[in-house]
Amino acid sequence: MQQNEALSRLALFPITTQVAPQTDGRTLTIGGCDLEALAGQFGTPLYVFDAATLDAAALAYSQALAATYPGASGVTYAGKAFFCKAVARWTQRHDFAVDCTGVGEIAVAVAAGVPREHILVHGVNKSAEDLDAAVRHAGVIVVDNLAELHRLSALFPHVETQPALWLRVKPGLAVDTHAYRQTGQSDSKFGMDPQETIDAVALCQVQGLPLAGLHFHQGSHFHDPAPIGPALDTVLDLIEEIRDQSGWTPATLSPGGGWGVPYHDDDLPHPTVAAYVGFVAERLVAGCQARGLPLPRLQLEPGRSLIARAGVAIYRVGAVKRTPARRWLLLDGGLADNPRPALYGARYSALPVHDPARPATTPSWLAGPYCESGDVLIEDLPLPEIKEGELVAVPVSGAYHLSMGSNYNGARKPAVLWLERGQAHLIQRRETLDDLLARDCDLPE
Ligand code: LLP
Repeated sequence: MQQNEALSRLALFPITTQVAPQTDGRTLTIGGCDLEALAGQFGTPLYVFDAATLDAAALAYSQALAATYPGASGVTYAGKAFFCKAVARWTQRHDFAVDCTGVGEIAVAVAAGVPREHILVHGVNKSAEDLDAAVRHAGVIVVDNLAELHRLSALFPHVETQPALWLRVKPGLAVDTHAYRQTGQSDSKFGMDPQETIDAVALCQVQGLPLAGLHFHQGSHFHDPAPIGPALDTVLDLIEEIRDQSGWTPATLSPGGGWGVPYHDDDLPHPTVAAYVGFVAERLVAGCQARGLPLPRLQLEPGRSLIARAGVAIYRVGAVKRTPARRWLLLDGGLADNPRPALYGARYSALPVHDPARPATTPSWLAGPYCESGDVLIEDLPLPEIKEGELVAVPVSGAYHLSMGSNYNGARKPAVLWLERGQAHLIQRRETLDDLLARDCDLPE
């Protein structure tokens, strides 16, 4: 791979990424911050998030909705992709709602000052603690099943402010993604089938519960919006049936999130957010017109496509090993901060931080330090000669890495920086050995 091809990988990095001249060569900068200097100051593995890339992704959604959907619309950020107080505060810059799965994410949103009307609570089997936090702090609870609805109807007479309820419908159709990321098919553990949804609407009406919306989510990381069309039609058919039976129609319809992103050079070019949003908006308008339904508020719920590209993971190469068929670059992070390759066979790309334009001549396998043969972040990626002690940057690391990370082998979760206008702000400190021991209790002597 020649110099230009290696640099074409920059298209996967945050939009502010540059190769800046330094006294001893050229080095990657993001948001005006030198990655080599940051790694020196904060240690590795290090995660950085570029605010400008986040803002651009948020704008892409808001502008596409405004341009293509004539009704009211909005965006809910799916906190499961990556959530901390700084990210929660960022959502409020854009007037987004936040999808919190359970009491833990609700606590982060509340600590960040996200107002009640912007907190939406999801969960397939919400605990009593989840439901309690949801009724205290949320503007919307998305009800997954009838048992949950019965619990809420028992709770609601005793709460001061009743969150609006949406019902999670399972359209019974799949999108094209890894089986572990499909959610809308009929055998899915998520949501209610059409008959259960009809029963849930009836229960809400009898109990006088504040039912306001319907939600479905077909899966995560799909690249073709077309399969959302039949799912949307199925849900609109159901709404028509419910309207005819009960007179109720949802004020809000949320077709979830799930839009994919390019992770690897081979995934480029990738269809745009505007293409996805436009498809959903047009199909919804046409579907409502055909059935004589009022246009609901359209609420999208993206996670990955808002935050993945903004995040970059920086690792230091501790050792270079040659085996008969491979050159291994052994990194100081891997499976514990990014389980996605091991879980889904996800493919990533990388560039060296120092002089990334060097011709990428040698196929490389990038592996972490953990005691698992599956702790391989990247397989067979052309990279230049890399010396021990060099840094490599892995783009598209913003979604479902840290939020799914672990303490395997005593790994301490990495430090996380927020990069904006030439300044780096620590938004999550690196875990310490004391953090690792903090939950342990001694047995009696
Ligand atoms: N709404 C609901 C109800 C969801 O379950 C999800 C993701 C989203 C929104 C956001 O989906 P996104 O836009 O991020 O695709 N760990 C997997 C992804 C699991 C997604 C779970 N639900 C991965 O790393 O690929």
